[in-house]
Amino acid sequence: MSENIIYCYSGSGHCLNMARSIASRLGDTDIVMMRAFPVKTDATEAKRVGFVFPCYGGGLPGHVEEYIKAIKIAPYAYKFAVEQYAGYIGCGLHKIDEIVGLDYWNTVSNHSTCIWLMPHALTVPPTSKEKAQERIDRKAMEVAAAVKAEKRLDVKPPENAFFARESAFFSKLHPKRAKKLTVSDACIGCGTCARVCPMKNITLENKKPTFGTNCIGCLSCLQFCPKEAINMGRITEKRERFPNPFVKASDLTQGILHID
Ligand SMILES: Cc1cc2nc3c(=O)[nH]c(=O)nc-3n(C[C@H](O)[C@H](O)[C@H](O)COP(=O)(O)O)c2cc1C
Repeated sequence: MSENIIYCYSGSGHCLNMARSIASRLGDTDIVMMRAFPVKTDATEAKRVGFVFPCYGGGLPGHVEEYIKAIKIAPYAYKFAVEQYAGYIGCGLHKIDEIVGLDYWNTVSNHSTCIWLMPHALTVPPTSKEKAQERIDRKAMEVAAAVKAEKRLDVKPPENAFFARESAFFSKLHPKRAKKLTVSDACIGCGTCARVCPMKNITLENKKPTFGTNCIGCLSCLQFCPKEAINMGRITEKRERFPNPFVKASDLTQGILHID
C-alpha cells in the first residue's frame, strides 16, 4: 500500500501531468484514474488522499462524483484537491468537499481543451502553451509543498448554484454532441481512439471508428488521434489540438500509475 493516493480524471492529459508532478514530489504515490470506475476504491491505508481533476461544464467530469462517493478514506487521512479550469472553477471542488471534507484545495487555469466551444488559446488570462505548462509545474510544486506540510485551509471552496445547474445540464448534452463526432479520410485505423475512450463507446468497423451514444464528452479520442482525423462538427476541423505533450494515450488508459 502506498503512503499517498491521488485520484485523477484527465481527458487530454493535463491533469494527469499535474498529478504525476505532485506525486513525484511526494514520493510513494498511487495515481488512480477516474475516467472509468476506479480500480481501487479502498484508500483506508493511505496517509494522504488527493483529487486532481478538470472543470467540465461548470462541474465534475464524467461520473467522477459517483466514483468519489464509492471511495473509502480513513478518518485521520489528510485530504486535498486541485482543479484545472479554463475560465471559471464552477462547483466541482465544492462537491468534492461535501463528499470527503477537504483539508486543502487549490486551482490553476490552463488552456482550454474544450475544442468544440473555443480555440484553446482563449483562456483567462491569455498565455502561450509553454507558459501554461510552466504555470502548471509551479502550481504542482506549490501544492506538493503544502500537502507535505499538511497545510489546512480555513476557507471552503466556493459553492455556486448557477454552476451546479450548468453541470447538471451539461451532462445531458453528451449524447447529442456524440452524434456530431466524425472521422475523416486521414484515419489510418490505428485504434487509438477506441483504446483511449473511457466509456468503450468507440468500435472499429472495417478499420474505421464508429461512435455510440455513451459519450461523456472527454474528447480524448479527438485530442489523441495521431492523424487529427476525428472532429466534433465542422468547427473543430480548423482548431489546434491540445493534448498534454508529456502524456501518452497509453498513460490515460492505465488503472493505476505508481510513482516512487
Ligand atoms: C468537455 C470540456 C468541458 C470543459 N468545461 C469547462 C468549463 O465549464 N469551465 C472551464 O473553465 N473550463 C472548462 N474546460 C477546460 C478544462 O477544464 C481545462 O482545459 C483542463 O486543463 C483540462 O484538463 P485535462 O487535460 O486533464 O482533461 C472544459 C474542457 C472540456 C474538454
